[in-house]
This record gives sequence, C-alpha cells and structure tokens, in this order.
Amino acid sequence: MSDDSPVHGLSGVAMTLLTPLYGRAHAQRLLPGSEFSDPQATRVLQETGFRESEVLTDRSNAVGSIHRAVVFDAITRRFAHTHPTGTVLSVGIGLCTRDQRLADTVPESVRRLGLDVPEVVELRERLLPDSRARVRAASLTAPEWTDVVEARPGPVLVLAEGVLMHLAPAEVTGFLADTRRHLGPGTRLAADFFHPWVALSGVHPISRATGARFRSGARSSTGLAALSPGWTATAEHPVMERIGPAQRTGKSTGADLRAGRRSYAVSALLAAADEEQRAVVESALGDPHCPAATVERVRELARRLGVDRKLRADMRRCAETAAAEAGTWHPHWREEAVAFFAGLPLANVVADD
Ligand SMILES: C[S@@+](CC[C@H](N)C(=O)[O-])C[C@H]1O[C@@H](n2cnc3c(N)ncnc32)[C@H](O)[C@@H]1O
Repeated sequence: MSDDSPVHGLSGVAMTLLTPLYGRAHAQRLLPGSEFSDPQATRVLQETGFRESEVLTDRSNAVGSIHRAVVFDAITRRFAHTHPTGTVLSVGIGLCTRDQRLADTVPESVRRLGLDVPEVVELRERLLPDSRARVRAASLTAPEWTDVVEARPGPVLVLAEGVLMHLAPAEVTGFLADTRRHLGPGTRLAADFFHPWVALSGVHPISRATGARFRSGARSSTGLAALSPGWTATAEHPVMERIGPAQRTGKSTGADLRAGRRSYAVSALLAAADEEQRAVVESALGDPHCPAATVERVRELARRLGVDRKLRADMRRCAETAAAEAGTWHPHWREEAVAFFAGLPLANVVADD
C-alpha cells in the first residue's frame, strides 16, 4: 500500500474489509468454473493500492470468503424473490459489491441500504460512487444505527457478513435486541460467526495482519439466536466445510510444499507414496517457484492415495481423545471443553464423510 493509497490509515477493524474483497476479486482464478464472479471487486481491489501484508491472500481465507459470499448472495436472492418491496441492509458493508453482482436477479424495487464506520463509508464513496446501496456512517455498537432504515412497508433482511465477531458479546446481544425492537419482528438476519474458542484464541492471522481483534463468537446458530428474545435459528450453512481438508486445517498444501515444510499432510503423503510418487513430491518440496500444476499433481496424488481420508480419520481420532481427556477436567470447563473438542472435526476442521 503506497502512502497515497485510499486505504492508508484505515483502522484495524476497517482494514479487515480487504481480505473478503481479495477473495471475491480472485474468485475466477481460485475457483475456476464456478458461477461466482465479481469483476467490480477486481477493479476496486486494484484501486485500493493494498499492501499484501495487510490482506490474507492464502487460499483458505480467500476461498472461505467466496463461499460465504455465495451463501449470502443466495439468501439475498431468495429474500428479494419473495419480498420484491423489502429492504436489504448490509451492516459492516465494507467494499462489498453484492448490488452489482446481483443486479440481474434482484429487482430495483428492493431497497438496498448499508452501514459502516465513517472511514469506510468515505472510502466506499470514493471507490464505488455508483453503488445502488445507500450507505450511511453508523456504528453497530450505538443503538441509533437502526435510524438508517426509515420506515417502509415490507420486511428487512439484515446481512452481517464478517462483522459480528468484531463486536463484544454484550454488543452482539445489543445488536440483536436493537434489530428486533426497531426493525420489527418480521426482520431476518443472515450472519456468520466463529466458535467462541476459535474467535477468542487470538491466533487468527487477520489479527496479525490488521491489528483487529475478534471479540466474540457463538457455538451454533441456535446459540446466536438464543442471545436475545424473539430470534429463532432457521438455517445453518457450514461454509468452511466446502473448503478442502488441507485448507480447513489452515494448511495450504502449496505453501507447505514450496516452503519445504514437512507438515502432517506432506509427511503422510510421503509415507504413503511409492518411490516414483515420492520423487514427484520431493521435487516440489522446498522449491519456492514450484509451478501450480505440480502442486495440483501432488494434491491429486494425495487424493488418490487416500491421504485426505487418513487425515480426516486421524483428526477425528485426535478430537475424540481430546474430548475424553477434557471429560476429566474441572467441572467449570468440562462441558464446554468436551463439546468443543468433540465438535472440532465437524465444525472447524474436517467434514464427516
Ligand atoms: C471483514 S469486513 C467485512 C466487510 C463486508 N461485509 C464484506 O464481506 O466484504 C468487516 C467490516 O465490518 C465493519 N465493522 C466492524 N465493526 C463495526 C461496527 N461496530 N459498526 C459498523 N461497522 C463495523 C468494518 O469497518 C468492516 O468494513
């Protein structure tokens, strides 16, 4: 990011908008063949003049952002179809370009609103002057944020994409209560969240990259809904489940190979490979310029040799062992710890197959 970059000087939490923007901007490269494409994001990202160190460009975070956007797009489309005179409000809208992405499928009659902190609203006006969403400066931590929605018939869909984890637990509860009290009982909410233990571990790379902290989480959509009266969880979309096992563990095979790291997955692959296959893996190990085609060949090899499956089985076994161990802990922690470890392979690491 150069000194005259439009994102220069953004606070940490505002700076987090770059990572989902990066993912969407690179969707065609990261998920070739996918129907998702966002050319406007590509242009806007370019114009931010971002600095790599402040954006998570790894596959796991980038692809996770795309899958999340796909789900939020689908929810928006469905809502617009059923409520053509409704309102879609994106809280913490960042540099989201959903309006443009859905221009052909969401009718003009659906009112589009957004809110974010003042510095982001200013940045948006500069980089997305033609956005169809009317975006106001407001903080979700002050109940007046609901003033951005002037009364109008028709229900409101509130989209909180990559936002709630930045609020303190009492602020999330306040946000839910304010939403229901001021926008009405027919209001829908789509929001993503981390498990509290993941959110509060302080190790998420976005904190290192931007200085922003995650401050809260929820154990499930039911847990989130239970924070404030009147909310019911109606659906859950396990977005991270769509990322391959290596990505879900936070490990990118390509990055490990190129860095010469004998990670768990790489070691398991080497152990399962015959001499010829091992030579392919060894040729890529530690070569920072190893071509993407070779990495893909190694991934394919891993799939063929069942390394993905073994990884999942090992993860599940480790989670079971950890849950059993947690069962012996002090009662104050026990229940939560057992549930966390037992759910780990499904919720955060690997899908059940
Ligand atoms: C990870 S970014 C997500 C941006 C956008 N929703 C997207 O998916 O591209 C988080 C956004 O939430 C905004 N945000 C965080 N805390 C907020 C608050 N208390 N009030 C309003 N916006 C907030 C940040 O400024 C930032 O734009």
